Amino acid sequence: MTEQVKIIEVGVRDGLQNEATPVPTEVKLELINRLAASGLKSIEATSFVSPKWVPQMADHKEVLEQLPKNSDISFPVLTPNMKGFENAVAAGAKEVAVFAAASESFSQKNINCSIDESIERFKPIFEKAQSLGIRVRGYVSCVLGCPYEGEIEVNKVAKVAQKLYESGSYEISLGDTVGVGTPGKTKSLIESIKNLIPINHLAVHFHDTYGQALANIYAALEMGVRSIDSSVAGLGGCPYAKGASGNVATEDVVYMLNGLGMNSGIDLNKLVAAGDYISNFLKRTNNSKVANALLAQNKN
Ligand code: HMG
Ligand code: MG
Repeated sequence: MTEQVKIIEVGVRDGLQNEATPVPTEVKLELINRLAASGLKSIEATSFVSPKWVPQMADHKEVLEQLPKNSDISFPVLTPNMKGFENAVAAGAKEVAVFAAASESFSQKNINCSIDESIERFKPIFEKAQSLGIRVRGYVSCVLGCPYEGEIEVNKVAKVAQKLYESGSYEISLGDTVGVGTPGKTKSLIESIKNLIPINHLAVHFHDTYGQALANIYAALEMGVRSIDSSVAGLGGCPYAKGASGNVATEDVVYMLNGLGMNSGIDLNKLVAAGDYISNFLKRTNNSKVANALLAQNKN
């Protein structure tokens, strides 16, 4: 498997959205700059969601307006509805992400509407985005299980993924929101979805609650997926998926890709330094095993 792999860094958004104490805008921007310096080409910057629902993302406008300019990096932002989209565009967004779920209960808890209503809400976003030349990414949550409903049938995932793809998402990110998936299930899921959506338009997004994320990613790579969402230092969780841990750590993904001879274009040492910076700020143990190993090695 000697190929290019795209990493979508979600630490600043998915990683920080669940933090109870506000992280200052300057710290988010410093983290983004450090991540950019490591070679990442796609860094999810923030969410244009309601500050009442997710207070940590309330500084979305300030973050977006101060992003590095004239760079070749994409900074997608989450937009749950037209209000979020309009605010994101006004603040300079060039790429947005809409987010739906394969579970009815999760959709209600997360965005306060049914799955069908969410698809309807996204339609004007897709239309406006197309007319403005803004790229739209589509997330499907709960693809391998739901915190409220447990197992989710593959055909439910496929239906939502296909709708988002046909509406105009350039890529569909399959989210294991609760991190319950295993490699076998990951393979069956991708096997079904790739008949509807070309594999080069699929991404995977694994939370690591049960420690399966890296194995699931390997399974996805074997199936031909070349877009991976991950979070520096393994930060993260969803406020509406209690008990779910952070995303797979970007450092661990990059280390595995390096070992497979696959190229992500990321400087692992600079990435580890970025993860160390935010872990120290949050006074958290770094959730990346690779980062901890390299940091310990450098101390000796
Ligand atoms: P709602 O309460 O149904 O919205 O929330 P509403 O349209 O009834 O409006 C109520 C109030 O919210 C109004 O203000 C609106 O202006 C305001 P008021 O008149 O009361 O002062 N409002 C907004 N304010 C700012 N930005 C907006 C916005 N929209 C309405 N965009 C809504 C619906 C979708 C807004 C809400 O449910 C929400 O913000 N949800 C956020 C959910 C979220 O961010 N979840 C985490 C991200 S998803 C995730 O982590 C999963 C993922 O990582 C993949 C995976 O792991 O599976 C992507
Ligand atoms: Mg997530």
